[in-house]
Amino acid sequence: MALVLGLESTCDETGVALVEDGELLADVVASSMDEHARFGGIVPEVASRAHLEAVLPTLDEALSRAGRSLSQVDAVAVAAGPGLVGSLTVGNSAAKALALGLGKPLYGVNHVIGHAAVDQLVHGAFPDRTMALVVSGGHTSLLMVDDIATDVRELGHTLDDAAGEAFDKVGRLLGLPYPGGPHVDRLAREGDPEAIPFPRGLSKPKDMAKHAYDFSFSGLKTAVARWVEARRASGQEVPIEDVCASFAAAVADVLVTKTLNACREHDVETLVIGGGFSANSQLRELAQARGEAAGIDVRIPPLRYCTDNGAMIAALGHAVVEAGVRPSGLGIGVDSSMPLSTITV
Ligand code: KG4
Ligand code: ZN
Repeated sequence: MALVLGLESTCDETGVALVEDGELLADVVASSMDEHARFGGIVPEVASRAHLEAVLPTLDEALSRAGRSLSQVDAVAVAAGPGLVGSLTVGNSAAKALALGLGKPLYGVNHVIGHAAVDQLVHGAFPDRTMALVVSGGHTSLLMVDDIATDVRELGHTLDDAAGEAFDKVGRLLGLPYPGGPHVDRLAREGDPEAIPFPRGLSKPKDMAKHAYDFSFSGLKTAVARWVEARRASGQEVPIEDVCASFAAAVADVLVTKTLNACREHDVETLVIGGGFSANSQLRELAQARGEAAGIDVRIPPLRYCTDNGAMIAALGHAVVEAGVRPSGLGIGVDSSMPLSTITV
């Protein structure tokens, strides 16, 4: 029996969760997103300050909902990176203080791998080989998971914008509110995904030779900007729904094509999709449809576990405790660019 407390503070969400024997007892999230909206992006200083104010109330609320006391906690897990250094520092300081005060082990774990691990709380233990696509405003990475606690390998990642970030930028150029992703998705559902043939990044044979599992969305975003500018310059109306649908189709197509190629080439039959961008309609539909056709079981946790939360950190923390991984110790630092093959520090 192990009761693991997970603490997340990599970006703008302060999350605390408790997992006992693979079961999620409580998951509480406080977000500072509203404070950033008027700046059109996350302001690191504002996020750090918000974590400082939210961390203790969030912890108290999680313990109360779980019906557990701090003295029952067996281990503390905290996201040690990647993320914003100030935000990470607040969460890690709190986690160290807790571990020290309780005399319990501390595990610094990888936030992005947590986005995959959380699915085990929802859909059960991963089979021996699982592919994970983690997509959000900050990350777009493809992970080969042989063992979520001890063996994860990054096969590829975005060379420029993350998928959500590309949606937010396209939202901005179309004059939609921040974050633009959900608005672009909503408009895309009214449009024709085949109206405009936008480019599929890093998909030509010469790019595939070197970047089979890497992604690039900045050329696509520029193509959308050029197309819209040309349309405006010629005095024609911009068919915003078709632009959104065709753009979203290009993003989903590349993500799903490369991910399913990776599954096939690595002999994997289970795919987990995590991160806030997994809310995207075209990605979900395409992954489910093409996954089914290819005999691949596509697992996507409910959205509240895909956006940043404490459950993902508690889930990964629980997995590493169960696997007997050695604790990190109180001397760990945060790593804003933690490599994605590093599960614990
Ligand atoms: O994981 P997340 O909540 O935050 C981080 O980036 O860490 O992901 C949010 C990102 C934002 O860029 C947001 O615009 C995008 O995911 N997003 C979407 C949708 N829902 C959220 N993008 C496209 N379609 C959506 N339905
Ligand atoms: Zn995240």
